[in-house]
Amino acid sequence: MGNPEAIAAGKKLFATSCIGCHGPNGQGGRGPNLRQRGVWHPLDDDGLFQTIRKGVPGADMPATNLPDTQIWEIAAYVRSLTAPAVETAVPGNAQTGEEIYWGKGGCSNCHRILGRGGMLGPDLSNVGAVRAVEEIRESIVDPDADGFPTYKGVTAVLNDGRTIKGVARNRTNYSVQIQDAQGNLHLLKMPDVRTITYAEHSPMPRNYKERLSRQELEDLIAFLSRQSVRPYEPEKK
Ligand code: HEC
Ligand code: HEC
Repeated sequence: MGNPEAIAAGKKLFATSCIGCHGPNGQGGRGPNLRQRGVWHPLDDDGLFQTIRKGVPGADMPATNLPDTQIWEIAAYVRSLTAPAVETAVPGNAQTGEEIYWGKGGCSNCHRILGRGGMLGPDLSNVGAVRAVEEIRESIVDPDADGFPTYKGVTAVLNDGRTIKGVARNRTNYSVQIQDAQGNLHLLKMPDVRTITYAEHSPMPRNYKERLSRQELEDLIAFLSRQSVRPYEPEKK
């Protein structure tokens, strides 16, 4: 469990044996979504192994006749879909990832870690403890996938000609509160607003898949996976 080679091998096996029912990234189809904690039973490692080996009798999930080592690899991959990133071994180099994060990636323009950085996006100080590796990956390469409604990009043009850009924090019929990239909050009363446009997309850039090499992406994921405000204590297993 948590071993990057096993997870990678398991991902390949999952692609041949499981995606027909559970979707290419485990997001579900005929079988349940395996990425949402809470949709399926919280199985321990053995339970997961047995489920994959024996299938779910009575439901539509077939048994497999793959050898045990391969079943463990699949189990490691399925586990990695929901296990906190900080508990999952990752192949990238966290130190290089840190440099990309604060430098070339420009991530800190919008995200804070332990009080440093911009305010437009969520604080990432604890992202490794609350997100799985695959969720972090998806947030970077496909920011619209999770659709964070609390971070809707917005541009307001005021009657006095000023333009305020940022993310909408609070909306009522009478007012909107916009947080700009510097973290300043602007409480705008609707009668003072000439036009207001909400973005369809996440404010997070959508081109990181092109801007970063494969290795850089892995390094960034490694860095973020280690962000946890509480020191991580490995499971005894
Ligand atoms: C023919 C469709 C099908 C295939 C192929 C399939 N599954 Fe499933 N799987 C299901 C269904 C349906 C369920 C829901 C069973 C239930 O109702 O509890 C399920 C449930 C599960 C669960 C959750 C079990 C629980 O107790 O909550 C896991 C984990 C799982 N599948 C993993 C896999 C893996 C890994 C593979 C590939 C080796 C796989 N499945 C292949 C249909 C499939
Ligand atoms: C222009 C601002 C901006 C930049 C630059 C930016 N992000 Fe984001 N990011 C956001 C916003 C806003 C969200 C929340 C909405 C969403 O999920 O798309 C977000 C969400 C995320 C999340 C999901 C957080 C969670 O709790 O689920 C991660 C992880 C993330 N960003 C990582 C990065 C990394 C890594 C970089 C640099 C490579 C980066 N971001 C650059 C604005 C930005």
